[in-house]
Amino acid sequence: MKSILSTVPRIKIANLPTPVEKLTHLAAKIGLRELWIKRDDLTGLALGGNKTRKLEYLIAAALAHGAKSLITTGAPQSNHCRQTAAAAAKFGLECVLILTGNPPQRYSGNILLDHLLGANLVWCSKEAREETIRDVFQRQWSEGKRPYLIPYGGSNPLGVLAYAQAMLELAEQGVDVDWVIFPSSSGGTQAGLILGCKISGVSARILGISVDLPAPKLQERIHQLLSETIQTYSFPISVAQDEILVEDSYRGEGYGIPTAADRQAVYEFAREEGILLDPVYTGRAAAGLIDLVKKGEIPKDASVLFWHTGGTPALFAETYQRLFSPLE
Ligand SMILES: Cc1ncc(COP(=O)(O)O)c(C=O)c1O
Repeated sequence: MKSILSTVPRIKIANLPTPVEKLTHLAAKIGLRELWIKRDDLTGLALGGNKTRKLEYLIAAALAHGAKSLITTGAPQSNHCRQTAAAAAKFGLECVLILTGNPPQRYSGNILLDHLLGANLVWCSKEAREETIRDVFQRQWSEGKRPYLIPYGGSNPLGVLAYAQAMLELAEQGVDVDWVIFPSSSGGTQAGLILGCKISGVSARILGISVDLPAPKLQERIHQLLSETIQTYSFPISVAQDEILVEDSYRGEGYGIPTAADRQAVYEFAREEGILLDPVYTGRAAAGLIDLVKKGEIPKDASVLFWHTGGTPALFAETYQRLFSPLE
């Protein structure tokens, strides 16, 4: 099955393999036998993150398509949009980012970087998103730019392959763990890690901490992505929806609204290990990990790997920097 992966065009962008490190202080503090971290915050591409891996496949597909421009969409502080803008700049493509919400008065965090990277920002309401994408696409097409549309979060079968490959990379690094924990949202990362386990024979429990969706909805989305990927590339496997592990009890008041526990987790990683998380994704997944160990749902004698998926520029977003500022 590894040979199927190697037949799909991919363009080198990421600094791989990303390091795997042991977090001894934090493990001792939460009473866990072994805690590892996979540093996908160090993938490179405009401050790194999980989208770098997906973009290796997506940009290869866009170039093969003859695209002169990329179009994608996300929340205002989308890491996916920032990294897509960087990839577009690197490969000489135009980039249009369709961001849902109102334009801020002052650019900060990822929005500032989107602008710096030369992306064209288009703002619209969530309800108008599909229509706006269609309009931008048609306009660009009529201008001869052969636009390539990257879905929300870079989550399509190509994005899934990227994280299957990432799981093979972890297996090659020889780190054998019982649990792999990470934030899950558009589902591509989790679908890929699950596929990678099937391909490499890794038996760890792949537990996504949902950032926004209720578990049944996210499981359905991941299952759909997996089915599409398995079918597109003829992988001789199947995955049942109830094999997909999602924990949705850490969503608080919703996407992008950090809870006290999310904030605390960002502090713990920073002060115990010198590692910067982000307030939207990894902070939430880390809060989940810490609580699951505390409650004994992850046994204290387990070996756990926290997959750092990036996102740190959001720490500098006006909306989030106040959370961590002692002066406010
Ligand atoms: C930092 C970070 N972590 C995790 C995720 C979730 O990954 P996925 O959308 O593949 O579920 C995202 C998605 O945008 C992200 O930006």
